[in-house]
Amino acid sequence: MLTCVAKAPAKVILIGEHWVVHGSRAIAAAVSVYARAVGRPVESGIIVSSRELGLTEDITKCRHLCNLWRSAQYIASIVSRSPWPASIRIESDIPVGAGMGSSAAVAVVFSACYALLGGVKPSVELVLRAAYEAEKVVHGNPSGIDNTVSALGGFIVYRRGEKPRRLENIELRDTRLLIIDTGVPRSTKTAVERFSKRLVELRDLGRELLSLMDRIVDRAIEALQEGSATRFGLLLDLSHGLLNSMGVSHESLEEAIHISRREGAYGAKLTGAGMGGVAIALVPRDRVARVREALTSRGYRVLETDLGVKGYSVTSIQDHP
Ligand code: PMV
Repeated sequence: MLTCVAKAPAKVILIGEHWVVHGSRAIAAAVSVYARAVGRPVESGIIVSSRELGLTEDITKCRHLCNLWRSAQYIASIVSRSPWPASIRIESDIPVGAGMGSSAAVAVVFSACYALLGGVKPSVELVLRAAYEAEKVVHGNPSGIDNTVSALGGFIVYRRGEKPRRLENIELRDTRLLIIDTGVPRSTKTAVERFSKRLVELRDLGRELLSLMDRIVDRAIEALQEGSATRFGLLLDLSHGLLNSMGVSHESLEEAIHISRREGAYGAKLTGAGMGGVAIALVPRDRVARVREALTSRGYRVLETDLGVKGYSVTSIQDHP
């Protein structure tokens, strides 16, 4: 029997969240926290079981996982066929609702396996588009960055309305990226509204800050290309300072960031919407244990990740019964 195994990474925004809503660029990267899918052919239905949601359903009935049904329909339509039966089990270690693109990574692994089980080549282009179809069901009008990072991996620079650009050959040696969950619930909508209001109130200064952010992104790209964790860390700090002054930080984000810097991070900032949620800290490998311990002793949940990991992978295994 043909079995399919797929794996795809989560994303974090490194620099440029919020500003990106108003036209400047952002840099996002794939991190080593993964969604996985294992699939096999069945006689009928498209049976998906999700460990995280604790459910198994036939997605053609479009109940909870209507997003994945959209991906399946899209893939079938590309090869002018009706959707074919399959059974796909999904597991994900990516925190949900934390701005790390968990729904996109799940859609990527589902799409890759579903295509493969139907004898369709799970090319990057196909998987990217099929996952985007699923994201539209979940997020309405998504920027497409989450599925792009999860599919392509590495470091991606993007601006609304433009094709995302992948930065090649980036390596920040001997560093780890800590993802720090404050556990404080947040609403992207509220944070975007607060930020936007301040930006308007700042008038000409707001416009200058937007173009300053674009220059910070340029410097950040240079720092990444030079492999300078020190310079990149400095720019993370600078970006956080600006986000904080725009009202989207939170006491617990500030504490987590402060602890990370104190214990030796190159730089730390909030990531995603802010006002709670998650922070990131770029940490030299030999300081990771120290930073991590200081954070966990204050009650923060810490994920230790590699930055800029490869995008999705998918393989098929032919078992002979
Ligand atoms: O919801 P999150 O945490 O993935 O953050 C979204 C990032 C923002 O820049 C604040 C909004 C956006 O649509 O880009």
